[in-house]
Amino acid sequence: MSETKSLVQKQFGAHAAGYATSPVHAKGASLQRLIDLVRPEKHWRVLDVATGAGHTALAFAPHVAEVIASDITDEMLAEAEKLAKSRGLENVIFEKADAMALPYDDGSFDLVTCRIAPHHFPDIPKFVAESYRVLKPGGTFALVDNISPDEGSTPGFTKDELHEAAKAHNAFEKLRDPSHGRCLTIEEWRTAISEAGFSISAVEILPKEIEFIPWAERMGADKATIAQLEAVVMGSSGALRAFFRPRQQGGKLYFSLDEGLVIARK
Ligand SMILES: C[S@@+](CC[C@H](N)C(=O)[O-])C[C@H]1O[C@@H](n2cnc3c(N)ncnc32)[C@H](O)[C@@H]1O
Repeated sequence: MSETKSLVQKQFGAHAAGYATSPVHAKGASLQRLIDLVRPEKHWRVLDVATGAGHTALAFAPHVAEVIASDITDEMLAEAEKLAKSRGLENVIFEKADAMALPYDDGSFDLVTCRIAPHHFPDIPKFVAESYRVLKPGGTFALVDNISPDEGSTPGFTKDELHEAAKAHNAFEKLRDPSHGRCLTIEEWRTAISEAGFSISAVEILPKEIEFIPWAERMGADKATIAQLEAVVMGSSGALRAFFRPRQQGGKLYFSLDEGLVIARK
């Protein structure tokens, strides 16, 4: 097994339960926005890649015929299954699958979703190509992931300043969670999805407010690491500060991470 895959399974395996209740995953604005833009149909067969605790799969389930909720981490699949049971959803199937090698036939799905996960994937072109392959002609690809700053998300800075801020953002994420790979910029997503052959119908940037402490603790970072992460947010300047937008409220630290959303058709 690749080092990336086993790191992901170790990190998410140990912290699976936190994702069932995490507000940014369970209630994030991108969830409803995906449904509004995709407009799912009753007869659809859907694949949710890297389902985590299942929030995206379960949000689509009431609108379609069947959802396959897939992930490489058994503990996350167990959390997702628990959540589906608690909501009385019976049209969701839970399956172990690697996003880079989806175990499904060509043209199997009307919709492939993937939300807040590709920043862990070792090969984005392979993941996008796999999503394209398993979709029926005319099928929809709906992607949301945390993005790094560029001109689109964080205007008013030079290319070099934004490049440095994107590097610092990814190093910050990796410090909190060693299974973090890389957040792409929204332009990199647009390019990767078009180059796979998709026609893009919507691209949006959704700001996401993060309460620092629960976010820092969710992946089990120790006290020293949390202090280091806080120092990065508080000490940020220039493009990185404009991207993080740190603020204190009621004695708590909040900052922002942007999500990029792309809807495309095969
Ligand atoms: C933050 S969670 C996903 C959140 C979820 N999609 C949602 O909407 O709430 C990230 C998930 O990606 C999964 N993952 C990471 N790399 C993967 C891969 N190569 N293939 C499939 N799943 C993967 C992890 O196991 C984890 O469950």
